[in-house]
Order: sequence, then structure tokens, then C-alpha cells
Amino acid sequence: EFAIDGSYVQQGVKHFVDQTAQALSANMERAMPMIPSFVTRIPTGKEKGVQLAVDLGGTNFRVSSVHLNGDHTHKTVASKVAVSDDLMTGTQADFFGFLAQQVKDFLTEHHSEHFSQTEPLRMGVTFSFPVNQVALDKGYLLRWTKGYDIKDAVGKDVVELFQIQLDALDLNVKIVALVNDTVGTLLARAYASKSDDGKHKQTLIGAIFGTGTNGAYSERLKRVPKFTAANYPEVFKRYSPEHIANQTMIINTEWGSYDNDIDVLPNTKWDIDLDENTHNKSFHMFEKRISGMFLGELLRLCLLDLKSEGLLLQSTKLEGNPVWKGFGMDTSVLSFIEAATEAQIETGKGDYEKIIKAMGLAAKDITPEQVAALKPLVTAIGRRSAYLSAIPLAAITLHTHALEKFDVVDIGVDGSVFQFYPKFADMVKEAMGYVEGISVDRIDIGHAEDGSGVGAALAAYPDDS
Ligand code: BG6
Ligand code: GLC
Repeated sequence: EFAIDGSYVQQGVKHFVDQTAQALSANMERAMPMIPSFVTRIPTGKEKGVQLAVDLGGTNFRVSSVHLNGDHTHKTVASKVAVSDDLMTGTQADFFGFLAQQVKDFLTEHHSEHFSQTEPLRMGVTFSFPVNQVALDKGYLLRWTKGYDIKDAVGKDVVELFQIQLDALDLNVKIVALVNDTVGTLLARAYASKSDDGKHKQTLIGAIFGTGTNGAYSERLKRVPKFTAANYPEVFKRYSPEHIANQTMIINTEWGSYDNDIDVLPNTKWDIDLDENTHNKSFHMFEKRISGMFLGELLRLCLLDLKSEGLLLQSTKLEGNPVWKGFGMDTSVLSFIEAATEAQIETGKGDYEKIIKAMGLAAKDITPEQVAALKPLVTAIGRRSAYLSAIPLAAITLHTHALEKFDVVDIGVDGSVFQFYPKFADMVKEAMGYVEGISVDRIDIGHAEDGSGVGAALAAYPDDS
């Protein structure tokens, strides 16, 4: 039931292209948000200076100071901390208060000179959730994703909430840019990227395949009919309609919400069960079939069914085992099973022990033959994730006609699934190869180093267009 093939990818791309056009025309509750980011400039690699950046929304909260050297390179000093489940579902004041305290600790440790300066420090914030962005430094939270559920923040300007907490700690720090992680990834990749062999290369998409999935790309505003004076009165007060129409702006697609109505997405019994237990039920349905927060849970639900059919773990008590509670199984279980060779599984040693431990089991609970038998299931779940991931990449490449304009289309990617899931990038490329009009050999897909840190710093870079 998890099997997926090339013709499905082709069909998904067609639907994605149609949905993109619709979502750029009007804001609709269940469609992809397609959020104008207010970032209008793609970096050249010549940007120089030091900026403060924070990054929230993946596995960790990170604070960094980024030194842009002006030659496509950078140096970063960073600290990171995991956000606890309590903070993820508590109050906004506790949450942003915690983040502000991390900024203070970072400055105390790495930039004590800051406390004697009168000029405020400019800070870029990567905030990886859907916000209705109305200016570079203003965005109202539409809804939470990826297990966050801080109810009193929904509908509020997250920059203001964060700034209040920074001010409460007397930090002379001013948030000047709010960006999604995909926007940061796109900026960072563009900054680092150099055209070689005189080829005309363009960084078109910044994508995340991590705890969640999403992508951002560069669009001409004349192709965004919903960018109207009614929706963005402040912008139309400052600039003429002609100036606006000719601007290019990065769009945060929030493609996690592609096909929330499940017109074409595969929908197994386990996908349905998984959605039932999420805070954002019936939203971000694409993400729930792809990203790191969900692949482990899909496997767990399948295994529980095998147990109830008496086929696996017959005499193992799972109650009270943290790996077997809802969302307790990490996606690394799939990675480990996928990476283990037949020989490693047969001997029941080395990497095999890693698998058993990640599953929260003891050696007596499961046999090597049973683990070997799980491999096709794991492969099907992982391959489905990668094949689905190819859909937006191919669709945006076609929607923007990028292959007609550039010799090489560059896609910058970050996130734990992309980095650690065995052969993920290869499977994505393989799937893109099935799409009519896509020449895979002219598409570069690569890791965007330190995506959000550098990206947020670049977004905080002064821009007068
Ligand atoms: C990190 C970026 O490298 O990747 C974050 O800095 C991004 O901004 C994250 O959200 C996504 O990966 P994960 O696996 O942490 O969700
Ligand atoms: C979720 C968020 C989105 C983010 C993505 C990757 O889909 O809604 O904003 O970019 O995860 O972190």
C-alpha cells in the first residue's frame, strides 16, 4: 500500500502546478498558503559583515553570529538547545521568554562587548511555521505545525512577542527580519553558490526535508495576483503598482499543506490513523507522508497492526515503553534498518543492536529474520517519502520555466531526512526523472550549509529595493 511509481509522480506534479496557480491567486483556508516573504533580493555572495541570527522550528533552537566574508564564505559561532515538550505546548510568554534568555546567554558568552554598545544589534529570526507575513519584520502566526501547540500565540505577530521578551531582559537587540527556514536555506545556498564553466546557474528553490517539509522559491509579483492593495495596503502606499509588479519576491509555499483535501495523495489506513493524533488534524497532509516527525510514527502504527494480528512481538509488553507511545518511534529506526546489510542483520550484532535499541526492544523480543522481513516495509515508506518530495521540486521548476532560462537549476536543501536518510537525495532525483519536461542532469540538488543561520543573517542585511 505504500508503493508508489513514476506515473504517480507525474500526476502529482500536474496537480501541484494547478494548485500553485490557484494558491497564488487567492488565500484559501485549505490551500497551500504561498506566503510572500518580503525578501526581494537574492544574495550575490559579496555581502559582508556580522549579523545575529536565531533559528527556531527544526529539532533545535539555535543562536548564532554570522560573519559574512563577502566572498561566498562565512564563519559562524553558534549555540543550540532542544526545546522541551512543555515549552512547545505552553504559553507564548514562557516560550519567547525562554528564547530571549538563550539570546542573552549567547551574547554573554560570545559577544560581551555588545553590552557596552549603544547601537542595537540587528537580528534575523528564522521561524519555521506558517505566518501571514505583512512586512519583512512582521508576521502573524497562522497555525502551528510539527507538534507545537502554543495556543495564545496564534494570530499574533511573532516578532512583537519575541521583541517584548528581548526588551524585558534589557537586551539591545532589534529583530529586523523574520524568515521561514526555507527562505533562509534559499538565501544561504545562493550566497554560497558559484557558477562554474561559465554556465548560467540559478538557485531557484530552498527546501527542507527534516522534522517538517517545505520549500521557497523566487517569483515575479506580477504572477502573484493575490498581492493586491487590499491585502498589502502598506506596500501600495509606499510603491507604485508598476514598481511592485516588476519586483521579484521569495514565496514561502508551505507545501506541507499541498493537497490537504487528498485529491491525489496516497491515503493508507495508517496515514488516516496518524492524522487523527496530530494537533493540526487534516492540515499539512503532504508533510505527514514525508517528513521526519511522521515516518517513525507510520512505521510504529504498521508494527502495532502486525502485533495485533499475532505476527510480531506476540509476547512483548509495550505499555509504558516510551518508544511505543504515540510519536515515540524516531525516524532513525527506518534509517538504521535501511542502512543495515543482510549480513549485519543475520549476525544479530553491531548495527543490528542499534536497530533493536532504537526500537526500544530487547534481543529476545524480535528475531533477525523478523527484522529482515521488515525491510521491504521500511523501504516502501522511505521511498514513498522521497518520491512525493520530488513532486514540488519538479512542479516549481516547471511553473517557473527555469530550465528554459538557465543552464543549471540549483536547489538548496537542509533537514535531517535529507542529510541522514539513506539514499534520500538519489531517490528524489530518480523520481524527478519520471516527469515530462524535467532534465535531471541540469538540476543540482545539494545541501545548503548552515542554511537558516546564514539565511537569517542575509535577510537582516540592509536592502532598499
Ligand atoms: C537546520 C536549519 O539545519 O535544518 C533549520 O538550520 C531547519 O532552520 C532544520 O528548520 C530542518 O531540519 P530538522 O531536521 O531540524 O527539522
Ligand atoms: C513545517 C512548517 C514550515 C517549515 C517546515 C520545515 O512545514 O509549517 O514553516 O518550513 O515545517 O521546517
